[in-house]
Amino acid sequence: MQAYQEFLAETLIDAPTLQERIASLAEEINRDYADKHEDLLLICILRGALPFMVDLMRHITIPHQMDCMAISSYGVGKFQSSGNVRVTYDLQTNIAGKHVLLVEDIVDSGHTISHVLEMLKTRNPASLRVCSLLDKEERREVVVPIHYRGFSIPNRYVFGYGLDIDEYYRNLPFIGVVDLEKYQSPG
Ligand code: PRP
Repeated sequence: MQAYQEFLAETLIDAPTLQERIASLAEEINRDYADKHEDLLLICILRGALPFMVDLMRHITIPHQMDCMAISSYGVGKFQSSGNVRVTYDLQTNIAGKHVLLVEDIVDSGHTISHVLEMLKTRNPASLRVCSLLDKEERREVVVPIHYRGFSIPNRYVFGYGLDIDEYYRNLPFIGVVDLEKYQSPG
């Protein structure tokens, strides 16, 4: 795999800016769910949301539970999600009566989160909301509610802080933009 510095067009959101915004999202969540604390359940949509989920949780001061689920979308090219979404790893928690907050790294076409919302609604949560670090609104194909939004971003290929490029560089503490002319896919 190439060193990311070779194809990094620019840093879109640096690490301190990410961390500051995440702390303020957590403050909002702390306020909004203050009287519902026993029933707050955070759900991490694997894998991209993992670093965001971990950092967000560290700032959530009210008692809560967490769980994870994994989704795969298929049917279109690798830079594009499709309407074909399926659950590859389901929750281990019964969400009936819980205040569920879905944690995502990015909402792009909206198909993933839309599918998850429809599916989880049938399990009778007390409430169901979405917290997404990034929102690439220009690419939206289905309308989805985002209750907590970290950043609106332009339609560029981004990586780092959970978002991969060919499964690499999810570990970076910032969000970068890929220069597709300089990037050489390992596969
Ligand atoms: C990414 C991201 C969202 C989804 C958003 O996941 O984490 O779940 O795509 O795209 P959409 O709004 O167009 O549906 P991806 O399928 O790349 O899996 P990953 O989280 O394991 O990287």
